[in-house]
Amino acid sequence: MSIIELEQVGFCPQQTTILRDITFSVEKGDYVAISGPSGGGKSTLLKLIATLLTPSSGKIYFEDKIQGEYPITEYRRQVSYCFQQPQLFGETVADNLRFPFEIRQQEFDREQVYRLLKQVDLSKQFLDKSILEISGGERQRVALIRNLLFLPKVLLLDEVTVGLDEESKQIVQQLIRAVHQEGVTILQVSHDEEDLQQAKREIKIEGGRLVHGPISSQ
Ligand SMILES: Nc1ncnc2c1ncn2[C@@H]1O[C@H](COP(=O)(O)OP(=O)(O)OP(=O)(O)O)[C@@H](O)[C@H]1O
Ligand SMILES: [Mg+2]
Repeated sequence: MSIIELEQVGFCPQQTTILRDITFSVEKGDYVAISGPSGGGKSTLLKLIATLLTPSSGKIYFEDKIQGEYPITEYRRQVSYCFQQPQLFGETVADNLRFPFEIRQQEFDREQVYRLLKQVDLSKQFLDKSILEISGGERQRVALIRNLLFLPKVLLLDEVTVGLDEESKQIVQQLIRAVHQEGVTILQVSHDEEDLQQAKREIKIEGGRLVHGPISSQ
């Protein structure tokens, strides 16, 4: 069953064409890498799938229903987007990791937060750190686990390993692999060779068009 399907999707704000005629489908449990030159439309494509932008034409389906048929917060919990430049909010790391529990009116699960922090090589004490005092790589990892405290069905990753040192990159890649093994479908924009190899297949967006793929690995 395809979990995400795009049918002739176009995005043309103010008469400029950013994306045109994008058609592809993603199977449940798939891991798709999205590559292509800067300005080609990769982030725009992920934002459309994430409902952060609305297509000018065409249709996007999630589990065989049109995006717009879902309540938006419910949709975004299932199809979760990780920004190219993630923002943290509040004052501490804890403020950020409490948030997913608060919006679901659930109690803060400290053990689970510790477990995820450990998975990205951060200590328990890290929770009390000020968001102004953490590095870019640490910020990226905190943002990522904020998205993963409640596993989505589809994870949209926008250049989440860019600018990370080799060690942080390995940690993040390992976390993404683990999440994929738990059954989460992944679409990952990346230029990184290791990221691309980790994916099951690759599609390329160039000048607003899908230029090749999807080539199934099965
Ligand atoms: N809301 C918008 N309105 C107008 N133009 C936009 C909008 N969003 C993006 N663009 C333009 O659309 C094009 C595609 O942008 P996008 O961010 O999707 O590219 P990208 O492939 O992710 O590039 P990069 O690899 O540099 O992140 C760019 O020319 C950008 O300036
Ligand atoms: Mg981008």
